[in-house]
Amino acid sequence: MTGTEGNVRVLLLGGAGQVGLAFQRVAPADWLVTAPGRDALDIADDGAVQAAVSAADLVVNCAAYTAVDKAETEVDAAYAANRDGPAALARACATGGTPLLHLSTDYVFDGSKIGAYVETDPVAPVSVYGASKEAGEQAVRAALPAHVILRTAWVYGPDRANFLKTMLRLGAEREELRVVADQHGCPTAAADIADALVAVGAQVLGGRRDSFGTYHLCGTGATTWHGFAAEIFAQAQARGARVPRLVAIDTADYPTPARRPANSVLDCSLLERVFDWRAPAWQDSLARSLDGLLPA
Ligand SMILES: NC(=O)c1ccc[n+]([C@@H]2O[C@H](COP(=O)([O-])OP(=O)(O)OC[C@H]3O[C@@H](n4cnc5c(N)ncnc54)[C@H](OP(=O)(O)O)[C@@H]3O)[C@@H](O)[C@H]2O)c1
Repeated sequence: MTGTEGNVRVLLLGGAGQVGLAFQRVAPADWLVTAPGRDALDIADDGAVQAAVSAADLVVNCAAYTAVDKAETEVDAAYAANRDGPAALARACATGGTPLLHLSTDYVFDGSKIGAYVETDPVAPVSVYGASKEAGEQAVRAALPAHVILRTAWVYGPDRANFLKTMLRLGAEREELRVVADQHGCPTAAADIADALVAVGAQVLGGRRDSFGTYHLCGTGATTWHGFAAEIFAQAQARGARVPRLVAIDTADYPTPARRPANSVLDCSLLERVFDWRAPAWQDSLARSLDGLLPA
């Protein structure tokens, strides 16, 4: 079902975030995207969510409490956005049979697996953020069969605060940077997530109803934070930027309030098999992101 004149009415939550902004840049012209800010629509507000969802053909949830360390002390705020918000959205979507695309995280896993995580691996979050996101996944599954949950990881891009922008800023200021080399994961460009949301959304809107469920969606390939930083600085230097000396350190040398999984590499082959979508190599997506931040 679509709205007036064949246009698709898309309700986007979190439109001012990294992925939400990227999504609005690539949404097809015939998708009428409404993106109320948090002030206009708190996703944990059941009544407001119900009204907004009733006017949509597709709901895309990019809203979340993403401050991983602050979540350890702001537990209620994390659960409001990451569990209660998705729960309210899923209930509202169920009322009218509206499909929901919802983003989740690699931090639902504890990182103890040897090898890449698949969707059916047991979850065991080790942080409040991870636990709140896992609770959000459960709430979506319980309320709404017509969902696609996309777990992503290590998101970066031109908007908001993220690892890429932090490295470029600190790299310009400091002689030496110490970066953790014993956490493994998959850097993922916000633009690639946006592209996948459009691809999956288009198939769901096109009538595909056999593929609802949970998928992994990351940049292709894996590295460590140190490896990610090394590639950022190699590419930045090739574009004429001043770069620092990079020192590999262990997680134990860089204590943070929230624990991070040592391994959060996600196997994304199910998404490719079912929706025929695969992310570019993470180094190539990094280069595209740098085009906007450090033109060659
Ligand atoms: N960032 C990562 O590295 C990462 C890794 C794995 C998974 N993810 C997941 O990917 C998704 C997108 O992340 P992102 O990096 O784009 O996040 P982001 O840049 O932090 O943006 C999150 C957006 O959600 C909004 N928001 C927060 N609480 C809200 C509420 N109660 N009601 C309505 N809106 C609310 C924020 O509003 P304001 O603009 O007012 O702040 C912001 O616009 C999230 O589900 C996140 O958990 C992210």
